[in-house]
Amino acid sequence: MDEMRDRLQELRVTAAEQLAAAPDAVAVDQLRTALLGRSGVLTVLLRDLGTVPAADRPALGQLANEVRSEVEGSILARLAALQGTALEARLAAERLDMSAPGRPSRIGHLHPLMTVERDLREIFHAFGFEVFEGPEIETDAMNFEALNIPPDHPSRDLWDTLYVAEPGSDPPRPAEDGTILRTHTSPVQIRAMQALQPPIRVVTPGRCYRYEAVDAGHNFEFFQVEGLVVDHDSSMADLKGMLEEFARALYGEGTRTRFRPGYYPFTEPSVAFDVACLVCGGGGCPACGRTGWMTILGAGMVHPAVLVAGGIDPDEYQGYAFGMGLDRITLLRHGIPDLRLLMSADLRFLSQFSAGR
Ligand code: PHE
Repeated sequence: MDEMRDRLQELRVTAAEQLAAAPDAVAVDQLRTALLGRSGVLTVLLRDLGTVPAADRPALGQLANEVRSEVEGSILARLAALQGTALEARLAAERLDMSAPGRPSRIGHLHPLMTVERDLREIFHAFGFEVFEGPEIETDAMNFEALNIPPDHPSRDLWDTLYVAEPGSDPPRPAEDGTILRTHTSPVQIRAMQALQPPIRVVTPGRCYRYEAVDAGHNFEFFQVEGLVVDHDSSMADLKGMLEEFARALYGEGTRTRFRPGYYPFTEPSVAFDVACLVCGGGGCPACGRTGWMTILGAGMVHPAVLVAGGIDPDEYQGYAFGMGLDRITLLRHGIPDLRLLMSADLRFLSQFSAGR
């Protein structure tokens, strides 16, 4: 009987120690089987209880039951403790440091030319203009003839045209159907008149091409924004007032402007529109050729022949048009010395304009 008691007491101690040291739930389960399983230590001990004298059995049986429930209690306690630390370990491993600074990602931005184009779209939108776009590959008929520039007209020399070659011609000669790269956005005036009913109030931003000797101030590829208004009584006074407001919206309230006589075959009368030099303010400097003025666009009343080409009756309608280069506006805005930089696709140059304006 004493031997049995000693075995139970010893089991009580070692079981508690082993369970307390079990590193995980699997180890606890193995101990459960080893202690309480079919051939577990305690099970075998209880079976041996039958061999002790009957008088000792109740006391030993009670002790055995105490040990069993202690072991069961320790198993549950150990499992609970292990679950707690497992959760803590997981929480620690998965912790997100919300205060850590983010990794900067490289994002692109608009080309400075496109920022200017969008600004102009926005300004003209506020003046009630809608955007109307046309193709960069045009016909001679649209680019010149419809704009009152017949084939042998000397003013064609103003636009050094890039011709699209007749397919298969060698050496290349201009395409027979007169396909060219548009030299200005003015052909879109014709397309807008043909597509829309008066009153017409459109701006036509887009890329243009000329056969230029490329230098700091000239490129064979550039951008224009054209404007066209056709209505019963749109006048030169409307044009002047609108352009003055436009110059103030683009360059600031105090901007001084002037009209000068100009010449374009598709407007009559034609004007050049100047703003006080944006570099010297009007005093005269190299940037403005010491005149104090900078020409920012050409404009005029739409020539009746152009209205006719657009399918509009010049006895009923009249209107004005204007056209400006975006490249120059962009150079002046940022103080860029060389036009060629704009088309250089050089990230060292372009990344300087991430702030937009
Ligand atoms: N198309 C002209 C140019 O390229 C600009 C212009 C447009 C002038 C509309 C008058 C009216 O120089």
